[in-house]
Formats: sequence, C-alpha cells, structure tokens
Amino acid sequence: MLSIDLKGKRALVAGVADDAGYGFAIAKALAEAGATVCAGTWPPALNIFLNLLERGKIDESRRMPDGALLQFEKIYPLDAVFDTLVEAPEEIRDNKRYKDVGDFSIAGLAQRLVQDFGDRPLDIVVHSLANGPEVKKPLLDTSRAGYLAAVSASAYSLVSLVARLGPLTRPGGSFLSLTYMARVVPGYGGGMSSAKAALESDTRTLAFEAGRKYGLRVNTISAGPLASRAASAIGKIERMVEYYAANAPLTEPLTAREVGTTAAFLASPLGSGITGTTIYVDKGYHSMGAAVGTGNLL
Ligand SMILES: NC(=O)c1ccc[n+]([C@@H]2O[C@H](COP(=O)([O-])OP(=O)(O)OC[C@H]3O[C@@H](n4cnc5c(N)ncnc54)[C@H](O)[C@@H]3O)[C@@H](O)[C@H]2O)c1
Repeated sequence: MLSIDLKGKRALVAGVADDAGYGFAIAKALAEAGATVCAGTWPPALNIFLNLLERGKIDESRRMPDGALLQFEKIYPLDAVFDTLVEAPEEIRDNKRYKDVGDFSIAGLAQRLVQDFGDRPLDIVVHSLANGPEVKKPLLDTSRAGYLAAVSASAYSLVSLVARLGPLTRPGGSFLSLTYMARVVPGYGGGMSSAKAALESDTRTLAFEAGRKYGLRVNTISAGPLASRAASAIGKIERMVEYYAANAPLTEPLTAREVGTTAAFLASPLGSGITGTTIYVDKGYHSMGAAVGTGNLL
C-alpha cells in the first residue's frame, strides 16, 4: 500500500503558537506520518503557547488518530525578522518577552538545533509565518517602513531559513512555506500581497539554488482562507471564508487539515519530484474568473 511514511524524519515548523493555524495542522499531519516535530515560536507568543500546552487547553486538537497527543520535541523561540542576535535592536532584546529566551534569531535557531541533535538534524522545514504591520492599509497608503517590514517578516525570512537551515538538512530534505494568492485582494494590504509575490518567486529561485547546492526541495502551498489568529487580526476573514464557499468549485469550507496532509505528502518521498512549485490548496478557488451570476460577489 502506498503511504506517507515520515518515520525517522525530524521536522521544524516555524510559526506555531496555538492550535488554530496552518502551522499546527501541518505539525500534526507530519507527526501522524511518523515524523518528530520541533516548533519555532515567536517570542511574544511563546509563553501563551507553553501555557496552552501545559494546561491541557489544546489537548483535543493535539489528539492523533492513535489516541496519543501531538508532542513537540522542542519548542524554540524564533523571531524570523532577525538573522543574528546582534541585529536585534536593544529595545527588543531587553523586552520582557525576549530577554530570557536566549538567542531567538534564525542563526540562534540553527545553532540550538545542532547543539541538541548534531550536525544534520533536519529533514523537513516548514515556514508558516507572516506579519504585515500595516496589513489593513491599502497599498497606496502603506509606508515604506510598513512595506519593508511585511517583506522582511513574510518573505526574506524564508530566504534566511533556507540559507541557515539548508546546510543542516539531510539528503532528500524538503522546505515548505505558506502563501496566499499574490493578486489583488482588497483588505489584504500593507505590502502583504507584495510579500507573497516575493515568497512565490523566491520559492522558484531557492528551489534551483538550494536544489543544486544541497539537494533540497522548496515548495509553497497557496492556501484558502482560514480563521487563524493571524487572519482574524486582519479582519473580514469570516466573509472571505463565506465568499470562497459560495464561489469556489468545491463549496465545503477548507480545513487546516487539508493543508496539513498536502504538506505531509510534499515532505515525503512521494513528493520527491516536486520542487519550485506553488501548490493551491483552496478548493479550486484560484482557477475562477469573475463569479458573475452567483450573486455572491463581496
Ligand atoms: N489564514 C489564512 O487565511 C491563510 C491563507 C493563506 C496563507 N496563509 C499563511 O499561512 C501562514 C500561517 O498563518 P496562519 O494564518 O495559519 O496564522 P497563525 O497565526 O497560526 O500563524 C502565523 C504565525 O506567525 C508567527 N509570527 C509572526 N511574526 C513572526 C516573526 N517575526 N517571527 C516568527 N514568527 C512570527 C505568529 O506568532 C504566528 O504563530 C502565513 O504565512 C499566512 O500568510 C494563511
């Protein structure tokens, strides 16, 4: 029987801080396929996440088909805006959410992984994080700083992760990120669509460069809307979910698990021929033109 078998593989999922987002669903699917999973969590959300886990608040979501709870082998603090600790401004390093967690940069994460598990500790890296401080502003009203912050947190962070974790990844390794249609989506502003366009383009270039250099694969999943914590902060997410349900070829709402299982397949040897690709997991919405006649336009 053909099955997704990730036994003996270690994954790092960057961008998990609760059970509501794509990162959590991907972590769970990878674990269900047999991988051990580490998480990278943004320092401002780290304590909240550790509390949710310790107090059993997300046990129901952690429950896997065999009854066991999803375990994170390690949870590392990670602020993907900083490549090295010295680049973090003093007010960040001294901030109460950051000052006691150690090196939260991408280089710090790489160093900790090697300390904890040896020179080539990883098989799978998932980038499931994004941030755009001005996301609610139309592009025309977005400041240069806001635009660059969105691209830094949401796109360059993948470049830096591949650069620093690529050498730590074993042969057959796989990198995956999450994107959202790099097209016009009113309400998804602040340079976020620009950041996703960069992320999708970089997926192709990184697939070539890291493929040749390390034999890695790099892909991105373009997911449909999900009421995660990040998406709910943008606002209007419920309307987006409804709009997709009304206008996509498949009208059942997308579940995070459907993104998780696609991620597990892509990371597995079954996906060994796929790299440099944007894979749509959105119930087919991306293939639509104008939804004329349905009466469901936003
Ligand atoms: N929810 C959607 O509708 C949707 C649709 C398509 C793509 N996506 C993408 O999926 C990915 C995961 O988002 P989600 O919607 O599941 O929400 P989420 O809230 O579960 O995940 C976003 C994570 O990014 C983390 N983060 C923010 N800034 C960070 C930084 N500087 N360093 C490290 N971590 C940081 C947050 O703490 C959070 O854990 C994002 O790339 C998002 O753009 C989401």
